[in-house]
Amino acid sequence: MARPEPGLTLVGGGRMGSALAGGWIKSGYAGPIAIHDPAPSDLLKSWEDAGKISLNSDPAPASTLIVAVKPQVFPKILDDLRAFVGPDTLVLSIMAGITLSSLAESLGTSRVARAMPNTPGLVGEGMTLLCMPDGAAGDDTAYLQELLTPLGAVEGPLGEDQISAATALSGCGPAYAFLLAEIMAAAGIAHGLDEDLALRLAQKTVQGAGALMMDSDEPPSTLRENVTSPGGVTKAALDVLMRDGAMPSLMKEAVAEAIRRDRELSGD
Ligand SMILES: NC(=O)c1ccc[n+]([C@@H]2O[C@H](COP(=O)([O-])OP(=O)(O)OC[C@H]3O[C@@H](n4cnc5c(N)ncnc54)[C@H](OP(=O)(O)O)[C@@H]3O)[C@@H](O)[C@H]2O)c1
Repeated sequence: MARPEPGLTLVGGGRMGSALAGGWIKSGYAGPIAIHDPAPSDLLKSWEDAGKISLNSDPAPASTLIVAVKPQVFPKILDDLRAFVGPDTLVLSIMAGITLSSLAESLGTSRVARAMPNTPGLVGEGMTLLCMPDGAAGDDTAYLQELLTPLGAVEGPLGEDQISAATALSGCGPAYAFLLAEIMAAAGIAHGLDEDLALRLAQKTVQGAGALMMDSDEPPSTLRENVTSPGGVTKAALDVLMRDGAMPSLMKEAVAEAIRRDRELSGD
């Protein structure tokens, strides 16, 4: 099957939908962008005023339909969504927990795909997982990988059986990193640092470590070892964080629990 014709129809212009659309506009996407949202934000309205998108035009079969509403809204708007699906429509859902088979069945097409973004996608630094059905056309995969780049890096296509574990890492992972900054700051405060200073130190350190990690060819374990001199200060702290039952095993347990909950919500 050939690449979809130019033209994007986005249903749900919230945080993620707007991040995607903003990226398409910025990169000069060559085709019309139609956005449907019952309560469009000022940002969406400003794009419409500038002639960059059309808002809430009459429903018509889309070339590519991107569904970015909350998962709980999806079953309620199926009739509306079906009006956007024609025989050649490629459907991409970014809704958490809605499986490929459920999408295909609900929308009456097998030309469906799923993506799982994360919140750093809102600043173009995200990790988005792409999931295609068996037998999907290579053209569709390449096209969707490109379409998701405004959110940051794209990984996949991954098998749908890997989505729960991958989601537990990159989907939930920003919260783990925020927690790290939060509890580092709290520990600093507990040891006498001023609250604002502790927060600034923790935030910048987490950000800086991330930037260094992405700039380096070394894996995180080597970067950690490089800053851990034998008998030194960092080593004293890591001996606590890495002892039996501490951070490594807690993270494993936390990820297992996230996977269990994701499967439960997906109805697996
Ligand atoms: N945010 C994340 O980190 C993240 C990560 C992975 C996946 N996702 C998925 O991305 C999707 C969107 O998340 P989000 O954070 O962008 O949510 P959001 O900001 O709430 O965006 C959803 C948008 O859909 C709109 N909407 C509601 N009913 C609609 C309808 N009938 N037709 C068209 N639009 C409608 C909402 O309008 P109202 O606000 O007026 O209801 C809202 O603007 C979700 O399915 C979520 O699972 C998000």
